[in-house]
Amino acid sequence: MRLILLGAPGAGKGTQAAFICQKFGIPQISTGDMLRAAVKAGTPLGLQAQAVMASGALVGDELIIGLVKDRIAQPDCASGFLFDGFPRTLAQADAVRAAGVRLDYVLEIDVPFADIVERMGGRRSHPASGRTYHLTFNPPKFAGKDDLTGEDLVQREDDKEDTVRKRLEVYSQQTRPLIDYYSRWARSDPAAAPRYRAISGVGSVDQIKSQVFAALGD
Ligand code: AP5
Ligand code: ZN
Repeated sequence: MRLILLGAPGAGKGTQAAFICQKFGIPQISTGDMLRAAVKAGTPLGLQAQAVMASGALVGDELIIGLVKDRIAQPDCASGFLFDGFPRTLAQADAVRAAGVRLDYVLEIDVPFADIVERMGGRRSHPASGRTYHLTFNPPKFAGKDDLTGEDLVQREDDKEDTVRKRLEVYSQQTRPLIDYYSRWARSDPAAAPRYRAISGVGSVDQIKSQVFAALGD
């Protein structure tokens, strides 16, 4: 299974990615998680990406495309993978297509921007695994701690309200066009294009999970 999860910041891509990856036994390739790990480790990539991410803008296409190409060449991607937060620009989508990567699905999760601001405010993350919680909607079993490791949860730097608004603006301008890109391609060339599925991301985490699995043919 090879698929793309498409959706605005805070739509629940990371939350649902964990369920999909577990079910299909595939790795989650989150360019956001990879960049945050690079920032934390202080690598040259991290130093380049840090300020851009904190501003809510997108990291350069070439850098991201190189990062993903290296990642999918690794052995654990041989039987499939899930792209979370990639591609995010038309240039990134073209690069995937030009590289001949065959995708089974593009799954769009749609959430109104008003709900997203609330979701981001309450988000807490476990940086080492990328696991994500919400203080109200998806609370950890023990306050402030990751369910599996018991390690501390943190708030992401780019979850401040101003930065969230900037990220939503960037999404509208640069990433939303991918909805058209993939849905048109699916209509015009169903044999070659990934199947396009769109679901509403409004509802409980479990409700969305059932819809996600139904959309992926469960
Ligand atoms: P990235 O890490 O990809 O962030 P994002 O796309 O902005 O998405 P988020 O991780 O914020 O949200 P999500 O959809 O995963 O939602 P989540 O499941 O956490 O990117 C960060 C930055 O890195 C970018 O701004 C950019 O600078 C850079 N970057 C990354 N990829 C790039 C690329 N390809 N090109 C260029 N730059 C790139 O859920 C959100 C919250 O809601 C959580 O608290 C969760 O518990 C809660 N929640 C989830 N589901 C529900 C529900 N059904 N009901 C209520 N609450 C829910
Ligand atoms: Zn995420």
